[in-house]
Amino acid sequence: MSHERRERIVRADRAHVWHPYTAADLWENEDPIVVAEAHGAWLVDEDGTRYLDGNASWWTKTLGHGHPRLHAALAAQAARADHVAFAGITHEPAARLAEELVAIAPPGLTRVFYTDNGAGAIEVAVKIAVQSFVQRGRPEKCRFVALAGAYHGDTVGAASLGGVEIFRRPFAGILFDCLYASPSDGPLQEVLARVTALLRENADTVAAVFVEPMLQGAEGMRLHDPALLRHLRALCTELDVLLVCDEVFTGYGRTGPFWASAHAGITPDLMCLGKAFSQVLPMGATLATEALYDTFRGSKDRALLYGHTFAGNPLGAAVAREVLAIYRDEDVLGQVAAKSPRVARTIAELGAIDGVASPRALGMMGAVDLVGSASPFEGEAADYLGAAGWRVYREARRRGAYLRPLGNTVYVCPPLTIPDAELETLLDVFTESVRAALRA
Ligand SMILES: Cc1ncc(COP(=O)(O)O)c(C=O)c1O
Repeated sequence: MSHERRERIVRADRAHVWHPYTAADLWENEDPIVVAEAHGAWLVDEDGTRYLDGNASWWTKTLGHGHPRLHAALAAQAARADHVAFAGITHEPAARLAEELVAIAPPGLTRVFYTDNGAGAIEVAVKIAVQSFVQRGRPEKCRFVALAGAYHGDTVGAASLGGVEIFRRPFAGILFDCLYASPSDGPLQEVLARVTALLRENADTVAAVFVEPMLQGAEGMRLHDPALLRHLRALCTELDVLLVCDEVFTGYGRTGPFWASAHAGITPDLMCLGKAFSQVLPMGATLATEALYDTFRGSKDRALLYGHTFAGNPLGAAVAREVLAIYRDEDVLGQVAAKSPRVARTIAELGAIDGVASPRALGMMGAVDLVGSASPFEGEAADYLGAAGWRVYREARRRGAYLRPLGNTVYVCPPLTIPDAELETLLDVFTESVRAALRA
């Protein structure tokens, strides 16, 4: 690791790289973390500085970085076949992965369609929903309902479902219309009444309701009551509307159980996976019921007209199988149950500080907002563009943790397998960084 090498990387990056969700002018003046290595819960900069990865690298690394079993699975599969097309061809990793997913999925989800990221998994669900109603003779059912503040990815279809105003704004002219059940975190009876009215009024033209079960991530880690999911399930069944659970973020134990929909004991008609699903390679999947799959039977032209070149990639599928095996062997959900009260305690303590609002925790996610009346940030933007969270980010970097905020929402979302001592350190840094930012 050398200073020159680090400089060289940053120079090349500043000259040519376009980063996601990064303001060009700010990036030019920022000293980025330049990752040389990543192991367990740690990111190691080219300059040797170590940072605890407080958001598990955009919520993917539930098993931490560099798990030796994932690397071994990758190498073993690479030696056999690294990529083949997935039309008219199958292979062991994709076929066995589907079998293993179905075995642990909410009962009734029996079909797996592979894509290569979370937004792709959402796009597939949109198209399955629309094409299935066309093939059932109800083409007018082609609209969607989502929750206010929903985030389902950035492709045009996925972004059309999104309810975060700032992400929609530049693309408003090309996104399809979506009906929003808003907001989902108010008093429960009001939320249920609003969603009921919206669906009853529009059921004749609505194909599906999309929901991030229990926890809306990108909007600012908002929680809702599991009763909302049960209510949506019953209403969708009654009104012949499909229910889609986007478990791209919430799946794989982030909220406690393997699937967040288990908090409500429901089975959706479609379930979307990404992020922790493969953790090492871009990989997504959409699970569907057999009833839905059946609407695509009958003749050649009823096939789902959708596919990505890298669908079912053998390397990604082999790694995804090993991810499931590690969950079994390392009792990852047991680890979540043991560690999550520690996260909740820190968040509750932070919530008592002047200037901190809305403490909330579920499983291995804990968040607060820095918009309380005593906050020095009073009057600043409180949405994704808010600056308060970035002050916490800078304080945390000085203390050895990577805590990327969502505007004025700051949160921890570490690997689920983070060792106890490192979790303690991360939570201490989180607390100290919030306190320091509030003093600034
Ligand atoms: C709930 C949810 N759905 C979908 C996506 C999109 O996944 P990807 O970034 O892999 O396209 C995300 C990404 O953050 C997400 O949080």
